[in-house]
Amino acid sequence: MTENMNLKINEKNHLTIGGCDCVDLVHQYGTPLYVMDEAVIRNNMRMYKNAMDKYYDGKGLVLYASKAFCTMATCKIAQQEGLGLDVVSGGELYTALRAGFPMNKVYFHGNNKTPTELHEAIDAGIGRIVVDNLHELELINRIAGEKRRSVKISFRVKPGVDAHTHDFVQTGQIDSKFGVALENGEAYEFVERAKDMPFVELVGVHCHIGSQIFDLEPFVVTARIMLDFIADIKSKYGVIIKELNLGGGFGIKYTESDDPIEYDSYIAKVSELINEICKERGIEKPFMLMEPGRSIVAPAGITLYTVGSVKEIRDIRKYVAIDGGIFDNPRYALYQSKYTLMLANRANDPATEQVTVAGKCCESGDLIAKDTWLPEARPGDIIAVLATGAYNYSMSMNYNRNGRPPVVLVKDGHSRVIVKRENYDDIIRNDIIPEDL
Ligand code: LLP
Repeated sequence: MTENMNLKINEKNHLTIGGCDCVDLVHQYGTPLYVMDEAVIRNNMRMYKNAMDKYYDGKGLVLYASKAFCTMATCKIAQQEGLGLDVVSGGELYTALRAGFPMNKVYFHGNNKTPTELHEAIDAGIGRIVVDNLHELELINRIAGEKRRSVKISFRVKPGVDAHTHDFVQTGQIDSKFGVALENGEAYEFVERAKDMPFVELVGVHCHIGSQIFDLEPFVVTARIMLDFIADIKSKYGVIIKELNLGGGFGIKYTESDDPIEYDSYIAKVSELINEICKERGIEKPFMLMEPGRSIVAPAGITLYTVGSVKEIRDIRKYVAIDGGIFDNPRYALYQSKYTLMLANRANDPATEQVTVAGKCCESGDLIAKDTWLPEARPGDIIAVLATGAYNYSMSMNYNRNGRPPVVLVKDGHSRVIVKRENYDDIIRNDIIPEDL
């Protein structure tokens, strides 16, 4: 079973999460069903916050990257745990706003924020806009000027570190749609333009080197590059950058072969490095921000499905079909992502068969797991896919007009719905048959 999950097996041989029997949850709410464990989310948020307090004297803020799992309830939990929020669209911003999240702790990201979204963010009193490019910088200055407001901004830098290769490379990431590059001078040009603009206040720099990263080294190298950049800006332009946002991207354990870093050791190491470099280069210690998403919510979630047809193609493959699929979890189709699966209603039974778990959509690529080990699955069994708390609900869709599953939040043996199941009326809610049709 994946680490850092509050999963157990009870005397009925059923999987439990947050003290709730998964078979009971299925009886109550049906399948497919997302289940999120509140204690795991809170513990992960606290772990980050405590590490920031401990190693960086609390001179920083952990932003929850809400794209991983954005609901009003999650925003509320993040607020209660003292975190800030990273949002990337008007929709995420609106979710935070409606959840009553303090706007001064919201950071607005994205490589192509629309003018409407920028208006909304400024009107809401957003904490920071993390500017992606020069066009956006001009746009913000103009919109803020119309409103006679000054907007605090940070901007996204491409540090030139690609953390996804096995031995990561330090150059070559210039070809990315996000941010301005260091190596061709764009990042410096950005500062030159921003520093004298009347309606923007340049307070920070930001970077994000990728997601599901398992090594500490690329993060440390990136932090060094960013601090050198801050020091350069000071000596070149006399501009003091007060905030350093190091992004998110920490990997989690989806299967036995994944070996994530200790998140708080990252904060310890980076804090030490920042102190060192700041002394060395004579710059003030910046306020530190980081933006974990996946590592906070992925381990908190599971998805439950009911097995329907089981199809054995002799000498080739056995397909076990479930009542969900690509519409609630497109990650296998997109990235060949691997998950750990089990039978929630026969949780301790030995995994004796290698099968392919397929969804119900009209799409051959609609798989959840290929050649995964399970006990012999029969129609009516309940399959649990573990560690689905990040980028599953948030990337779900209505392909084949399937309704999105509900999300249930569990805690101490108690469950409540935080997102309702989409029914057929939800599916046709925006359809219109024009009168002249
Ligand atoms: N900050 C920025 C600017 C980001 O772009 C992201 C993720 C994060 C923070 C949070 O990264 P995390 O800690 O969650 O790795 N859909 C993909 C993941 C895309 C991540 C996009 N950016 C997946 O399902 O794996």
